[in-house]
Amino acid sequence: MFSFKKKEKSDEDLTVPKHIGIIMDGNGRWAKKRMQPRIFGHKAGMEALQAVTIAAKEMGVQVLTVYAFSTENWTRPEKEVSFIMNLPVEFYDRYVPELHRNNVKIQMIGDTKRLPKSTFEALEKAEELTRLNTGLILNFALNYGGRAEINQAVQKLAQDVLDAKVQPADITEEMIGDYLYTSSLPASLRDPDLVIRTSGELRLSNFLPWQTAYSELYFTDILWPDFDENALKDAIVEYNRRNRRFGGV
Ligand code: FPP
Repeated sequence: MFSFKKKEKSDEDLTVPKHIGIIMDGNGRWAKKRMQPRIFGHKAGMEALQAVTIAAKEMGVQVLTVYAFSTENWTRPEKEVSFIMNLPVEFYDRYVPELHRNNVKIQMIGDTKRLPKSTFEALEKAEELTRLNTGLILNFALNYGGRAEINQAVQKLAQDVLDAKVQPADITEEMIGDYLYTSSLPASLRDPDLVIRTSGELRLSNFLPWQTAYSELYFTDILWPDFDENALKDAIVEYNRRNRRFGGV
């Protein structure tokens, strides 16, 4: 069990979000503050992710979707892109064994077929190793873009209409959900209850636009490598202050 600093509700009363999305921002600025190259920040970011994943699992979070690389991130300097693309390889060797021991199941979403082969294979190996785990799902959004996700869903759905598998009038929101990348998650867990963005930026940057329609948004100035278990608890305490009405009263 964990204890919260702010005691408005006792620990037992707190609702833990089932699905948390995290926009892990601020690695570059964190490194710059330390006069280090940006890649130093990404390495520290991976360390933070490991700690936060295990903390989230202990709190009872069921899905953690982390924005690790967007379709827009390819415009970064080539050296930085190739460093980030190599992180999953290091992640598999250094971090996956501990996650596996913690019953964490690793999955990925995005246009992952277009990742470098070694990046894709490292994550595929992680998925395969942890496939039967029943604990928290750590869902990597890699080469992910929300509009691209909707675009590919519309293409597939249009094809199914052409093939007479679907009638346009029968299309429902639930059905659309089945064409999105997040269909790889259990149906009741596809939409984040809470989205956290670090480093003080106040936008969603093409992160899960369909799935975040009713998500609570939490922004913090903390730079991602400094985000830890206590910061996660603060976000959950704040989440508990919100009154989620889903359009009702
Ligand atoms: C944003 O910070 C961060 C990223 C684009 C990369 C995030 C990746 C990780 C934390 C590691 C993920 C781990 C695996 C295994 C893939 P930024 O570079 O935009 O920071 P800045 O806004 O300060 O420049």
